[in-house]
Amino acid sequence: MREIKNQIDAYRKELEKATARIKDAESLQELHTLFLGRKKGYVTLLMNAMKFLPPEEKRDAGQIINLFKKDVQDVLDGRQKSIQKSRIISFAADLTLPGRSPYWGAPHPLRLFQNRIESIFQKMGFSIEEGPEIETDFYNFEALNFPPEHPARDDWDTLYLDKDDWLLRTHTSPVQIRVMEKRKPPIRIICPGKVFRKEAPDPTHSPMFYQVEGLIVDHGITFAHLKGTIDFFLRTFFHEKIKVRFRPSFFPFTEPSAEVDISCTVCNQKDDNCRVCGGSGWVEILGAGMVDPQVLKNVNIDPEKYSGFAFGMGIDRTGMFQYQIPDLRYFFDNDLRFIRKFSRQ
Ligand code: DAH
Repeated sequence: MREIKNQIDAYRKELEKATARIKDAESLQELHTLFLGRKKGYVTLLMNAMKFLPPEEKRDAGQIINLFKKDVQDVLDGRQKSIQKSRIISFAADLTLPGRSPYWGAPHPLRLFQNRIESIFQKMGFSIEEGPEIETDFYNFEALNFPPEHPARDDWDTLYLDKDDWLLRTHTSPVQIRVMEKRKPPIRIICPGKVFRKEAPDPTHSPMFYQVEGLIVDHGITFAHLKGTIDFFLRTFFHEKIKVRFRPSFFPFTEPSAEVDISCTVCNQKDDNCRVCGGSGWVEILGAGMVDPQVLKNVNIDPEKYSGFAFGMGIDRTGMFQYQIPDLRYFFDNDLRFIRKFSRQ
């Protein structure tokens, strides 16, 4: 009996020292095996030794051993809890580090340009219309006064979906026809959207890009209204001080037609080698004109009573020019480093 008591005292001392050294779950497990292992653990050894005691001592010895076993268990359980806690703390965030704010997402730059264009025209009383991206030859060309075989069709590198009728719209102008078919004047709309052309991608071309079309039809609309509206829009979108110039041009659906340039905002018309305007001082920004009387007739609007003007411009092109973006393809590559430059974050 005395021997057993001494042995237990020795084990207690060993336990005390060993628990101080426990650092992780592994060393805890080792200690558990050493003390409580079923075959050769200290408690088992004590139980085995008990067999050799005289019968009257067995009961007390059993109690002392059980008490020791319970103490060992308590100590090891306590250590296990503190190990778990420190593990959680070491895996948890370091609360002293500055936070990383998540990226919330933002509108694509083209969407931002489009929003700005829309809001300027909405303030002038225009409403927004949309039309299908898959069109027929009739809406994309014929109703816009491009007769079959007309050479001007060659200027629009058309992607046909079948031999001669269905196609991907090459401009937003067909929306003019769809709107005028549905509604009678007064009409004052813009139609933003995607257009498609058979073009290999390069810094200034893409088989898909964005345009916005404008159309006004009412009594007594003149070229002066066209000039005033375009002039106001461009000065609001770019800068109050830019110069705007109208050059005679040709489109089958407008007569007279014009192309509109603005003074180069990159070199301010001062750099003969400017890489944006090529030294000319001007950058072409849109096409426009008075709606051809034949187009009005095609949609049953009487050109004797009504007149109108229309315009069309590239949204991507306009944004490229405003922000001096050197390559149109950046818009469609979806490289987040580029896209995020335009968002507020
Ligand atoms: N649809 C023409 C294009 O894609 C642009 C255009 C020019 C639209 C004159 C118009 C306009 O409405 O009047 O090149």
